[in-house]
Amino acid sequence: MAKKLEFPKNFLWGGATAANQIEGAYDVDGKTLSLLEMIPYVELKDRTDIEASRKLTKQDILDSIDNKKGLHYPKRFGNDFYNRYKEDIRLFKEAGLKVFRMSVAWTRIFPNGNDEKPNATGMSFYKNVFEECKAQGLEVMLTINHFDLPFWVIQKGLTWRDKELSDCYLRFAKLLMDEFNGYVKYWLPFNEINLGVLITRQFSDKEQEGGVMQKILSSYGDLHKQFVAQAKVVEYSKKYPHIKVGCMVADTTSYPIDCNPINVLENQRMEHMKKFFYYDVMVKGEYPGYALRMFKEYGVEINKEAGDDELLKKFPVEFISFSYYMSGTVSKETGQMTEGNILKVGKNPFLKATEWGWQIDPMGLRYCLNQLWDMYRVPLFISENGIGVSEVLNDNNTVEDDYRIEYLGQHFEQMSEAIKDGVNLFGYTMWTPIDVVSAGSNEMSKRYGMIFVDYDDYHRGTGDRFLKKSYKWFQNFMKTKEI
Ligand code: BG6
Repeated sequence: MAKKLEFPKNFLWGGATAANQIEGAYDVDGKTLSLLEMIPYVELKDRTDIEASRKLTKQDILDSIDNKKGLHYPKRFGNDFYNRYKEDIRLFKEAGLKVFRMSVAWTRIFPNGNDEKPNATGMSFYKNVFEECKAQGLEVMLTINHFDLPFWVIQKGLTWRDKELSDCYLRFAKLLMDEFNGYVKYWLPFNEINLGVLITRQFSDKEQEGGVMQKILSSYGDLHKQFVAQAKVVEYSKKYPHIKVGCMVADTTSYPIDCNPINVLENQRMEHMKKFFYYDVMVKGEYPGYALRMFKEYGVEINKEAGDDELLKKFPVEFISFSYYMSGTVSKETGQMTEGNILKVGKNPFLKATEWGWQIDPMGLRYCLNQLWDMYRVPLFISENGIGVSEVLNDNNTVEDDYRIEYLGQHFEQMSEAIKDGVNLFGYTMWTPIDVVSAGSNEMSKRYGMIFVDYDDYHRGTGDRFLKKSYKWFQNFMKTKEI
């Protein structure tokens, strides 16, 4: 029997994407390459072994410039949004979405970083997309940087610790706000700030020798610069009182593997360093004591500059946004800060997982929402949530994706429960309304969309869009709020 869910009338239902996973058109209209467009597609024997697709040296990256080895670079092609955005936005609107989360490719706007003027063709592309959203009645949420660092950053060997990078970023962010504040109400300076910095470090000369642990420890100094850059974006946004700036964190709920106090404490330690540390700095504007202790014990240097603390305190984000896909378990044994397991989550025998090993846990979302509201008391927004499945079109040119309907419905139900618990959750953008290139595995066949895109992992196909069963289900959900 259908169950009616309760949501506030003005709840922002929407869909999320990222420039590097949808746009394509990597070499037209003045755009230069971004780091993610230098990573080739690698067929994986074991789909859960994402690390295998990322073992790249700086030389591999350099060789990819003129593609000497004839490899396929999926993020150069995306799902062809650059040419098909009108059709896509119309389909989003018809699905019932109210807000579209997207990002801007930095390399379309400042192709060389220090360009005297922004690239006019790049600016008009985004203006046209925003105009289209406006025409279709869609609000825009904009991620300023969604992992796609320009390639010139790597060529110059820069990390966030280099002033040149934060200066260029701020110039980019301020330009977007000045030009597009009339179209965009919600702004996210960095996507998944707790993961993004590690991506840069992975390809930085300075870290090629170090292991995962070294990269993580070194990343805190970079993160500090990003926190400061984000606070400066918040400061700048005050020029436009109608816009709001939020943070974006990759959140996973984590449970202790059992009630052994050693494991409970270890889980708390992991929660601290994997998530709350980030919210503490960005929402409360202060470094928490547990992090300062860890920095001391591991010899981590932050190199704060005069005025940084005041800036973080004075310009916290106005709302929290986060991605939520799964939960995991922690035990003292697996929770050790050792190479190899730091980014992974432990198995939970009570949960099912996707082909990629992502454990499905709708209740974990309610738990997470309550935790965040209890601790921070700022409005919450789920900026990503969805299920990646390998799918093909059937003879009726659709996909019977009942598992996606189930996944979304169960997560919506827990969101509604959290709202009843008193949580101030004001919106949700699913990842993603349309099939895109996967961020982690570069596959097109890891599909999240309610709209199927006819491209395979090598960008073979027509690129045509087809509606899956979940599209119709979502359309109906928007009208009835019934699952
Ligand atoms: C988030 C990213 O980490 O997860 C998205 O912000 C990404 O860019 C999403 O696509 C799902 O991850 P994946 O690796 O399945 O594409």
